[in-house]
Amino acid sequence: MSKRTVVVMPGDGIGEVVMPEALRVLEAVGFQADYVHGDIGWKYWCTEGNALPDRTVALLEKHKLGLFGAITSKPKGDAVRELAPALQGKGLVYFSPIVKMRQHFDLDICIRPCRSFAGNPLNFIRKQGQGFVEPAVDAVIFRQNTEGLYAGVEWTNPPEPVRAAFGTHKQFAPFAPVRGEDLAVSLRVVTRGAAQRIVRAAFEHAQKHGYKNVTICEKPNVLRETSGMMEEEAKKIAKEYPGIPLWSTNIDAQMMWLTKNPEEYGVLVASNMFGDIISDAFAGLVGGLGFACSANLGREVAVFEPTHGSAPKYEKLRPSIVNPIAMILSACMMLDHVGELDRARRVRQAIAAVVAAGEVRTYDMLRLPGGPEALKKGAASTDQVTDAILARL
Ligand code: NAI
Ligand code: MG
Repeated sequence: MSKRTVVVMPGDGIGEVVMPEALRVLEAVGFQADYVHGDIGWKYWCTEGNALPDRTVALLEKHKLGLFGAITSKPKGDAVRELAPALQGKGLVYFSPIVKMRQHFDLDICIRPCRSFAGNPLNFIRKQGQGFVEPAVDAVIFRQNTEGLYAGVEWTNPPEPVRAAFGTHKQFAPFAPVRGEDLAVSLRVVTRGAAQRIVRAAFEHAQKHGYKNVTICEKPNVLRETSGMMEEEAKKIAKEYPGIPLWSTNIDAQMMWLTKNPEEYGVLVASNMFGDIISDAFAGLVGGLGFACSANLGREVAVFEPTHGSAPKYEKLRPSIVNPIAMILSACMMLDHVGELDRARRVRQAIAAVVAAGEVRTYDMLRLPGGPEALKKGAASTDQVTDAILARL
């Protein structure tokens, strides 16, 4: 098979710290690939007025495979202020480059596995009798990745034709007298085709990997149209998988249940924002942001990334203290995707061995406050954790 090319997009902040660690692991495990660098992030917004430059889009179009670190997004006011003087006043509007990438390449299927490693001190525990039990959590969240509340169809002060259209809905009556500049609206969009694709992907995954149930997590009693469509499609598609029961939960109740019986859930599927929320919540049960990995899959292009952001407060700290495991697990998802199952398994085993041995742990795993002091208190640095993983490979 010809050698693959991976577009490597470290991004901002700790994205630039964890990416080289993942590349070290990929090399050590013998993954044969070429790497090309892709520019992305806040710095390109400031200097070029575009956080996802066209040249990076072209690289992804060509090579179809991307590894992404993290980017910094700042509020509207900062976006205007930090833009290079020559670019100001040209009507440029900041848009999150990762959201843009997902939409441009229609990376509509987001997979976020949340599986506990035995011996991780951050694992969820439950009081039982006089002691505690530590249920093994193995949930995989399928998040619709391009629509919903992140569709980007939103306004402050909606233009007149839009307001007029809203006015045709009787529920808009209480908002009709509000001044335009005092009215902000974000549209929640669900299309049937995308709903079907994410639900089907969830069932396929459950079937292939032996998960015992699929849960559609929405709020159809209130969001009757959008959540209603998601649930309706889930019920239809579930009939094609008679061996896998479909559970339906409301997002709010799910947030409560997941700390009661997280071990009972297998695959969960939800629209964009709810999927983002559930996946962070489940990640909290298996070690938090230092362990949370993800895949963004389209029909042609696939991009793999940790779910954490750029953690600006640790951006300049050297040696770095952040946990590289989320990035390395994201690289494992890339290996799975390209059929390198054995290499992915070996890396996960090495991570599991390091976590279980407990000798080399970043500050988050030791529940220490972050900062340079953490290293003096026994925390390992980022590259020491990678070294420990490499030693186990
Ligand atoms: P964040 O994920 O960057 O950091 C939150 C906190 O989590 C950090 O301060 C740190 O204590 C901890 N943390 C994150 N990653 C860690 C790691 N690998 N190891 C150990 N601890 C870790 O989220 P925050 O602070 O809300 O956002 C910071 C910036 O990142 C913002 O500009 C935000 O827009 C952006 N962001 C980007 C994302 C992406 O690139 N996909 C996702 C989330 C936020
Ligand atoms: Mg998130």
